[in-house]
Amino acid sequence: MKSPVLTALTLAAGAYAALSAPTSFAGDLSRGKSLHDTFCIACHSPVVYQRKDRLADSYLEVRQQVERWQGNARLRWSSYDIESVTDYLADKYYKIPY
Ligand code: HEC
Repeated sequence: MKSPVLTALTLAAGAYAALSAPTSFAGDLSRGKSLHDTFCIACHSPVVYQRKDRLADSYLEVRQQVERWQGNARLRWSSYDIESVTDYLADKYYKIPY
C-alpha cells in the first residue's frame, strides 16, 4: 500500500518532470539504460512495456510503475535514478514525451 505522502511526492515529482520537459531531461538516459538492464530484466523482457493492455500510457504512469518496481525489488533508488529509468523507458519503448 502506498502512503498518501508517497503519492503526493510522486505527483509532485511528476508535475516537476512535466514542467521541466521538454527543454531539459529530468534524468540521464544512459544511466537509466544501465540501471534498467542491470536490475529490471529478471522478470520481464521489454515486451511488457509494449503489450496491448499495458498499464502505463503517460510519463507519470510509467514513473509510478518504475517507482513501484524498484520498491518491490528493494533497490532504494533515488528520484534521479527513478527519473533516469523512466526517461529511458519513455524514450525507447513507450514513445511518449519525457
Ligand atoms: C519480481 C519480478 C519483477 C521485477 C524484478 C521487475 N518487474 Fe516490472 N513487472 C513485473 C510484472 C509481473 C509486471 C506486469 C504485471 C503487473 O504490473 O501487475 C510488471 C510490469 C512493469 C511495468 C508496467 C508495464 C505496462 O503495462 O505498462 C513497468 C513499467 C515495469 N514493470 C518496470 C520495471 C522496472 C523499471 C523494474 C526494475 C526496477 C522492474 N519492472 C522489475 C515484474 C517485475
